[in-house]
Amino acid sequence: MPSRLERWHIVVAAGVALVLTFAAIAILVTRTQPVRVVAADDPAVQSAENERRSSDAKVVAVTLTAAPTTMRIGDRELETWTFNGQLPGPELRLNAGDVLRARVQNRLPDPLTIHWHGIDLRSDMDGVPHVSQQPIPPGGDFTYEFTVPDPGTFFYHSHVGVQLDRGLYGALIVEDPAAKADYDREFTVILDDWLDGVAATPDDVLSQLRTEGMSHGGMGGMHHGAGAGTVGSPLGTDTGDVDYQLFLSNGRPPDDPDEVAIEPGERVRLRMINAASDTAFRVAVGGAQLEVTHTDGRPVLPVDTDAVLLGMGERYDAVVTVTGPGVFPLVASAEGKDGQAMALLRTGPGESPPPDVEPSELTGRLLTLDDLQADPAVSLGDSEPDRTYRVQLTGGMHSYEWDVDGEEVDGITLPVHEGERVRLVLENDTMMWHPMHLHGQPFQVQVAGGGGPVKDTVNVAPMDQVTVDFVADNPGTWMLHCHNVYHAETGMHTLINYVE
Ligand code: C2O
Ligand code: CU
Repeated sequence: MPSRLERWHIVVAAGVALVLTFAAIAILVTRTQPVRVVAADDPAVQSAENERRSSDAKVVAVTLTAAPTTMRIGDRELETWTFNGQLPGPELRLNAGDVLRARVQNRLPDPLTIHWHGIDLRSDMDGVPHVSQQPIPPGGDFTYEFTVPDPGTFFYHSHVGVQLDRGLYGALIVEDPAAKADYDREFTVILDDWLDGVAATPDDVLSQLRTEGMSHGGMGGMHHGAGAGTVGSPLGTDTGDVDYQLFLSNGRPPDDPDEVAIEPGERVRLRMINAASDTAFRVAVGGAQLEVTHTDGRPVLPVDTDAVLLGMGERYDAVVTVTGPGVFPLVASAEGKDGQAMALLRTGPGESPPPDVEPSELTGRLLTLDDLQADPAVSLGDSEPDRTYRVQLTGGMHSYEWDVDGEEVDGITLPVHEGERVRLVLENDTMMWHPMHLHGQPFQVQVAGGGGPVKDTVNVAPMDQVTVDFVADNPGTWMLHCHNVYHAETGMHTLINYVE
């Protein structure tokens, strides 16, 4: 029989051995299964691009020069920043499967990156500063080159600071060479809220929001609570933080509207893009129903409505048919604010409607997410997710700090593995609505009964939640953020990390 002391030694020795064994196993496990973040420059990103690209892909080459620009908006002459001296920047058009080669020259006094909003592209061309690339310095050049896999209505914009609230955006239209068009004509409508060169620069407004927070005072850049017409808004009573004086459609104010000439009875496909920074728009065409066919570029089962509501970053495609001769206003009313943007559909000569015309359709039936069903061609089906994350949207006006709290595993936010179906429960814990945008791959909104629309940007109402699923099929590191540029810039963003 061993003595008490010897027994103690044996116990200690056994304990030490056990600890060493666990340590060895732990080392072995971490050696054999290291959790590795798939960064934007990972070889997996290149191989995903190789799979996407066909050997005979057509290359569409463009040059975008960002520079300070003196321009006219209506009768105002002002200074802002644009691409190629135009507002909006040039419309880029290509076919699904083409390669976009965009040479970007930064002639701004600030750094620049360009994000290709809604395109499922290679992660290192996604244009997020310090995540997918180093920003292009003032005076510098950079060439973006990537395959554009899917057709749809997209846009490109600066992804640095609050530059989106200057004039640094343009439409990116991807056609489907295989589909036969069931419309006669197209009209792209890019909506924007405007202050640069009129009230203050976006950077002034940002610092005002930061320093004054809840006091809501100051130099007219800040929105003073709820405006007229917010009653009954699905976005709540506080629809924006900035008090814009001007709303634009295709760079034009409502007293100098852009217009498209059409024949009576033609089917006109509207491609509507909300490129604003802090304004949702409620859009209707006087004298016509909207037959909504796509949201965020992805097809839905067509549905008729009077009006649609576009949060920042959202797009809707709708076909309209105006019958009689005349001038038909497309009105985009700034939700919860005073003012509107306008464009015209014209079948012949005739007087333009006044800039404050209010077609009855604007207060008619408003499309909701529940009205939309994904086209089966893009639906993810209704299998169960492989993992579910709760994503909390937090913050408020008090100190003007906004945040996205995504779950972390081993210090990595929202890790996903390639091939997984991932569910995000976007939970809004704030008193404001947030248009939440995911880079790199679309998501399907989970609605009762399944089959909800496939989108890349979804509005989450105050104190509400929206559940979305995506298939992790595009390796890289992807931003998930609020498309209110002032919220994003004060912290309302996080990253989805592919891990291996
Ligand atoms: Cu259009 Cu990260 O955004
Ligand atoms: Cu927000």
